[in-house]
Amino acid sequence: MANEGVNNGRRWFLTATTAVVGAAGAGAAGYAFLASWKPSARAQSAGAPVEVDISRIDLEPGARITAQWRGKPVWIFRRNAEQLAALPALVGRLSDPNSDNPDQTPAFAKNETRSLKPDIGVLVGICTHLGCSPLLVPELQPQAFDSEWKGGFFCPCHNSRFDLAGRVFSGMPAPTNLEVPPHHFVADDPNRIIIGIAPEEVV
Ligand code: FES
Repeated sequence: MANEGVNNGRRWFLTATTAVVGAAGAGAAGYAFLASWKPSARAQSAGAPVEVDISRIDLEPGARITAQWRGKPVWIFRRNAEQLAALPALVGRLSDPNSDNPDQTPAFAKNETRSLKPDIGVLVGICTHLGCSPLLVPELQPQAFDSEWKGGFFCPCHNSRFDLAGRVFSGMPAPTNLEVPPHHFVADDPNRIIIGIAPEEVV
């Protein structure tokens, strides 16, 4: 049932503490696992990069956290081996399987998982149709909205579907894949992700 899938998906939804670069750790450590702390409005309007330390949160395979960057939700989620193995078989059902639209996929993420690391996905959590927030339905099992579901994101507003790489299925209201934001992993600490700066922009 669709609702069951949605509810199951919500089990995986977690909210992370985030920090503006340069202020990481300043107060964030005192926040509980389920707390959320957004950068100041001034920092967001300036487009400040946001740092997320995934070592301080329980990012189990199949789980997702949400950071805020430039006023947008940015999902960071972990795909398990079974979910990764399912991606190749979906290619024939996708609108832009190779992520050829550069507006949605920067060059560093133009690969099957649309990510820097296969298991870690980073996506802007806004449906490319009319801006709703898609739900994570990670289970590889039939859903009411898709009898061949292999895990992914389902937008309840107008039923757009995306796979676990954020690639949109063909014939959906959503015209494009979910956006991959500029981001990179800190070189000497792979648990720290900087959202807002692409790998090629690191100095
Ligand atoms: S806003 Fe997501 S399908 Fe319309």
